[in-house]
Amino acid sequence: MIFKDKFFLVTQMNLTAKSPILPLTTDLQHAVDRFTPPSPLGFGSVMAPIMAKADYSDGHWSHVELKAYQPLTLDPACKSLHYGQQIFEGMKAYALADGRGALFRPLLNLRRLNESAARMAMPELPEALFMQALESLVYHLQPLIPRGRDESLYLRPLMLATDTGLSLKPATKYTFLVIASPSGAYFSSSKVTALIERQDCRAAPGGTGAYKVAGNYGAAIRADIKAARLGCQQTLWLDAVQKTYVEEFSGMNFFALVDGELWTPPLSDTILGGITRDCVMQIAGTMDIGVKEAPIHINDLIAAIKSGHCLELFACGTAAVVSPVHALAEQDGTVYDLPSLKPVDSISLKLRNYLIAVQTGEKAGPGDWLCPVSSN
Ligand SMILES: Cc1ncc(COP(=O)(O)O)c(C=O)c1O
Repeated sequence: MIFKDKFFLVTQMNLTAKSPILPLTTDLQHAVDRFTPPSPLGFGSVMAPIMAKADYSDGHWSHVELKAYQPLTLDPACKSLHYGQQIFEGMKAYALADGRGALFRPLLNLRRLNESAARMAMPELPEALFMQALESLVYHLQPLIPRGRDESLYLRPLMLATDTGLSLKPATKYTFLVIASPSGAYFSSSKVTALIERQDCRAAPGGTGAYKVAGNYGAAIRADIKAARLGCQQTLWLDAVQKTYVEEFSGMNFFALVDGELWTPPLSDTILGGITRDCVMQIAGTMDIGVKEAPIHINDLIAAIKSGHCLELFACGTAAVVSPVHALAEQDGTVYDLPSLKPVDSISLKLRNYLIAVQTGEKAGPGDWLCPVSSN
């Protein structure tokens, strides 16, 4: 419950005073003007030519700067390379009809980044710094926000320890960056099968699973490779202790539609509190769809799929939005298929379309979710 209450409070956050948009130098403006997106765009594969950067030392953050996108110079003994003090966020800016770019619930990402920072003994970021970095970057990259179906400007804020030294102590110097990638859909395949991972675990109680810590994702790659080898596009993680309860996908939260109700596992210290998860729950409320946050035994889920009580599964996250999952699979080749629904009957597609309409400014959301970026 503590996580639910904490997350509920987060949804009430409002922006405080706005910091000015940082100017671009002529060289950086030229770099933006010259940028030509590849075709197809892909997801996260091409980087915008500018980034935002701030450094932390002596207990203080520097001002944010806009810079040319460029490699970092890191000492080979720098602490993030050895001890993994690296955290990040995933967000998107959307193109509005009037040409402006808009962030979506950005303070929730700040809140989660600062929770990740606290867990990893890293310094928190002030709201003004975080928002100035994002708004300045998005403002100048507005012409590069793609406008096609499923396209947006994917934003990746990240923080890493930069001090040199091999002693296992918290670093005293950090770098914060925001990089941006004009991107298309996350899943290249329209059919998604998730492999139920029954050996490895993603997150253990008391560990870092509820935070966006880089190492969580590195530790999931082996299972994702196994899944891909077996023809699956995702890994469905079970709890680390009993290997029995559904937790989430490697980078997305989990929902099942059972007897007309949405089931999702309750947040805990092993599940990332997704902002999309929160949106889906609020949108479901406006559509009179009940949501049950309760532990989901994998055997109950499989039984509900086999008996036809579970009609839909979906993954949700910033990158994947709301993506239907068409089947679950076991390592021995057993597949549990979900029925093929007509698009008009699919609740996950209704939720997805609703969310995208809010993100692109076509529809008002249940909350004040969209933050258009402007120069004043
Ligand atoms: C492990 C994990 N779960 C869930 C999510 C979904 O979170 P959000 O909806 O905030 O993108 C993400 C993505 O950030 C993730 O990495």
